[in-house]
Amino acid sequence: MTIASRLSAARSVLGLGRAARSQPRVPLARVPESIAIIMDGNGRWARAHGLPTGAGHRAGARALKDVVRRAGDLGVRDLTVFSFSTENWRRPQDEVDDLMVLFSEMIDREVPELHAEGVRIRFIGRRTDLDAGLRARIDEAEGLTAGNSRLRLFIAMNYGGRQEILDAAAALAARGVAEPTEDEFRAALYDGDLRDPELVIRTSGEQRLSNFLLWQSAYSELYFSPAMWPDFGADDLEAAIADYASRERRFGGR
Ligand code: IPE
Ligand code: IPE
Ligand code: MG
Repeated sequence: MTIASRLSAARSVLGLGRAARSQPRVPLARVPESIAIIMDGNGRWARAHGLPTGAGHRAGARALKDVVRRAGDLGVRDLTVFSFSTENWRRPQDEVDDLMVLFSEMIDREVPELHAEGVRIRFIGRRTDLDAGLRARIDEAEGLTAGNSRLRLFIAMNYGGRQEILDAAAALAARGVAEPTEDEFRAALYDGDLRDPELVIRTSGEQRLSNFLLWQSAYSELYFSPAMWPDFGADDLEAAIADYASRERRFGGR
């Protein structure tokens, strides 16, 4: 490998060399600090392409990378992605098994690069139900990237909003906190540092929350994209942010 090609490879790993990209369409002051995405439509994408469901999940996993990059480029601080819900265990066992393997493969393959790009990775959800191999990878990814600050990527895995609220209530009760304040309750959630998403995006045309971030999304703006998740790209993220930037938020006031 020549030095020039090595440098170019390193630059692309670091996400450099894209300075020539056209100016963002969104005024940077209107870019949300926190965005959450319900990555839906892998199954329908696979069917439309005559492929098995697992191929849809793999294509979906690949789609995440560009979106994470662009979010970081635009100055988003927290990006939360819904990768497996507490209800997704109801799917056929083959699909669930395949997804668990895919999650481990993804962590092995993508975390070093995300780390090089300054992404801090955190997981939210009920970890105890995941298998030991996956849990070990989750711990490792969180430990490795703990010092990064460019973008925080929260991966919601075995996550349910109601379960999160119940788990927080149980944790507070165990500590004898009978009447928590909002701040105390938030601190007891899976990650009390996660900023409420200003914008929640759902792909695949479905218009519901499916038990995602119920506490945190109380005042989120919702954006529904018709694209199946594997087809959702960085420009679609930017279009969602541009739409968000044009909205007026009132929080119950005037
Ligand atoms: C989202 O895609 C991924 C997970 C829920 C794990 P789906 O698998 O739900 O895709 P559709 O909704 O069946 O098309
Ligand atoms: C929500 O999608 C969960 C994830 C994207 C991980 P689902 O496909 O499970 O949601 P429903 O069943 O259509 O509401
Ligand atoms: Mg779905």
